[in-house]
Amino acid sequence: MASQTLISVLRRCHELVGGVSEEAVKAVVASEVMKLDARACGLEYFANFTHAMDIPYEVISAMIYTSKTFVCSVFAFPRIGATLPFHDHPGITGFVRPIAGRMAVSSFALITDETEAGPRPLSHHLLRPARFEGKRFLDANTPSTSVLDPINGQIHAIESLTPVSAFVDVLAPGYDNVPCTYYACDDPNPEPGRIYWLRVVPETVRMAPFYVEPVESSDLNL
Ligand SMILES: [Fe+2]
Repeated sequence: MASQTLISVLRRCHELVGGVSEEAVKAVVASEVMKLDARACGLEYFANFTHAMDIPYEVISAMIYTSKTFVCSVFAFPRIGATLPFHDHPGITGFVRPIAGRMAVSSFALITDETEAGPRPLSHHLLRPARFEGKRFLDANTPSTSVLDPINGQIHAIESLTPVSAFVDVLAPGYDNVPCTYYACDDPNPEPGRIYWLRVVPETVRMAPFYVEPVESSDLNL
């Protein structure tokens, strides 16, 4: 049975996410998502792992709750260096809260005016210009909620810095029929503030599902 904290946070998110484009509402959703620690998600055991998991995947993920309004899921990394590569969630705001270990989030902001990006390089790849925002860190011991909105932080990659790490995220609205696109940056050490032409690449990340007891709409008394 899902924890009362999880149910009450998901219920509150339903009330709030309609206004998620407003900064004040984002701050309230972020503070709700902060309540989702490993225990609230029923995943205390992740916080106790000290050794890498012997599995042939980069990422394992579980859906906790899904609706048209928002989705809530958990992503876990089984070893140091395991990475969810650069990808986007068009039109969606993400709230990311670490629940185990430590991770680095590298992100790009979308460029709305392509003339800012300078001439498009000659390339047979699909390209998209974006401004590198730098790296921020997620640490389950000093947690905070990172907000990745439809412009800032929209293209992001997350890398594990500890043998096991995990985060929970709330994405609003839900991503029914909104495919994400994966990107590569040719510069391995991009400079914060600089604009890069990112290449659109196929999704190749080795990802596997794991099971967390899902929360249903009926559990939320909606
Ligand atoms: Fe993402």
